[in-house]
Amino acid sequence: MFVMLRFVFLLVITILYVTPAIAFTGHSLPENGNDSIVFSPGKVWKDEKDNVINAHGGGVLYNKSTYYWYGEVRGETESKGVNVYSSKDLYHWKFEGLGLQTSSDPKSDIVSGCIIERPKVIYNQKTNKYVMWFHLEMKGQGYNAARAAVAISDKPTGPFTLVKSFRPNGHMSRDMGLFVDSDQAAYHIYSAQDNYDLRISKLTDDYLSPTVQDTLLFSKHREAPALFKKDDQYYLITSGCTGWEPNRSSVHVSKSLFGPWEMAGDPMVGPKSELTFGGQSTYILPVQGKKDAFIFMADVWKPKDLKDSRYIWLPIEFKNDKPIIEWKDQWDLSVFDK
Ligand code: DGJ
Repeated sequence: MFVMLRFVFLLVITILYVTPAIAFTGHSLPENGNDSIVFSPGKVWKDEKDNVINAHGGGVLYNKSTYYWYGEVRGETESKGVNVYSSKDLYHWKFEGLGLQTSSDPKSDIVSGCIIERPKVIYNQKTNKYVMWFHLEMKGQGYNAARAAVAISDKPTGPFTLVKSFRPNGHMSRDMGLFVDSDQAAYHIYSAQDNYDLRISKLTDDYLSPTVQDTLLFSKHREAPALFKKDDQYYLITSGCTGWEPNRSSVHVSKSLFGPWEMAGDPMVGPKSELTFGGQSTYILPVQGKKDAFIFMADVWKPKDLKDSRYIWLPIEFKNDKPIIEWKDQWDLSVFDK
């Protein structure tokens, strides 16, 4: 009897509340899905075929009216490479395939069993090539190799071919980001010296190698660098170093990429802001066609099941020139129209 009553009660609740909500909004759950025109940070995010997006530690390239999202493929076992998704509006993503694949050749630096993390892709106008940089750990060496690796493609969706892997100017290189400045010069920002140092190196014109213009930014044990520029001022968001566990973010500000960088505190605001809302920075995405519109991208790592790691995308606001990233359960791009 009790079970029957409970069933009827739940049925009534569903008919009264949930059905009109679906009819009205098109989605009952605060999920990032194919029917969604809002961002729901931390919730499962699905592509247009309803598969969960698998692109961690990633970055976004805007090229010829399309956004491309590149990220680590996380599965049951080892790294498989880098996934590519495309989108016209940032809400809906189409899976374009595995842009960079680990190799079956035991002599390859990216032989299956290696670790590929934090891939970023930039487009080189002079060579007309898409250039991917990522953090590479060699098979069977844990996190000891500490290398940067470069791959290249004729198309944004790949396939990307490995060019080489190395320690930039002899420095260890783990977490990393890329940045292309207004003059098309590109830079690699990387955690060196067992993550104690954060360094920046200017890339060669073809974006395939670091130049010797390679400088220590600061020695504060930071990782997960994400750099952006607004009004001739550079902003660098980083995390602390606590493995897969979240920690406090900070933002440094500078008039020049080579410093001096001034610490401007923790930009996060809201519940669990002291732990970056449970996430770790990966990229700052400039929104096209909107002035001063930037999206903070972070990963909520699930170390026991890395493929279940979630994404946090939040808008960046500016108060007295200081970036503020405030938690929002849901938001959309109209926040940038204010
Ligand atoms: C933190 C880094 O930011 C991640 O990319 C990954 O390397 C983990 N550490 C591994 O513990």
